[in-house]
Amino acid sequence: MIFFRSSNLSREDYFITTKVWNTEQGYDKTLKAFENSLKRLKLDYIDLYLVHWPKIEPFFETWKALERLYDKGLIRAIGVSNFEAHHLDRLMTKANVLPAVDQLETHPYFPNHLLHRYLEELDIVHQAWSPLGRGAALKEPALKKIGKKYGKTPAQVILRWHIQNDISIIPKSEKPDRIRENADIYDFELSREEMLIIQKLNRGERVSHAPDVVYVRTEPEEF
Ligand SMILES: NC(=O)c1ccc[n+]([C@@H]2O[C@H](COP(=O)([O-])OP(=O)(O)OC[C@H]3O[C@@H](n4cnc5c(N)ncnc54)[C@H](OP(=O)(O)O)[C@@H]3O)[C@@H](O)[C@H]2O)c1
Repeated sequence: MIFFRSSNLSREDYFITTKVWNTEQGYDKTLKAFENSLKRLKLDYIDLYLVHWPKIEPFFETWKALERLYDKGLIRAIGVSNFEAHHLDRLMTKANVLPAVDQLETHPYFPNHLLHRYLEELDIVHQAWSPLGRGAALKEPALKKIGKKYGKTPAQVILRWHIQNDISIIPKSEKPDRIRENADIYDFELSREEMLIIQKLNRGERVSHAPDVVYVRTEPEEF
């Protein structure tokens, strides 16, 4: 896991994100989960720590724990995942520190436009999870056609579309060639027309659960 120890790069050259799992939410449990993550990763700080899912009760305690870890300098930035506008609105009623990032399912079949605009207003970075839709859209003829023009693959076209929409991306691949391919997207630019063609692939179709579908009640805690 901690490959930088066997490379010439230093810890500062890596940006490491992890998150508190649904069943570990709550104030004390989050502090403990974070401590365990540091131990497992053999690290002394995390760059970005996220709350995995919004619909967990009690709701505010997990965020309070993240704020404490942030104040102590153990986390460089704190954020959320799968939070929609109403979850963010609720969080903001008690938060002292706003999330730096909201990690959301986002790909051509589910571009999450409206939420993107709301995040922009709040100055929260929109980060796409499953940015390739787990491969679902890669066979789209429109993406192949656009890619051919630039000598790029459909995956590269999708990732470039995200970047031009000001969306941060975390594509996953187990294959070194594809990891290199997914990073090679900074030497071409999609036209406005091509951006619109990709925008029109929107089917409102998720590859995973909607945020409000997952509901977990952890042990009640007073805060
Ligand atoms: N916050 C959350 O709730 C949440 C939920 C889901 C996922 N995530 C995170 O989001 C990240 C990515 O999501 P994901 O893995 O679900 O989906 P993804 O990155 O959209 O797609 C991954 C799939 O696409 C393939 N792939 C990758 N690059 C490719 C390329 N250039 N050409 C063709 N196929 C390619 C991969 O296969 P190979 O590995 O065989 O290359 C894998 O099957 C992960 O870090 C994951 O942990 C977060």
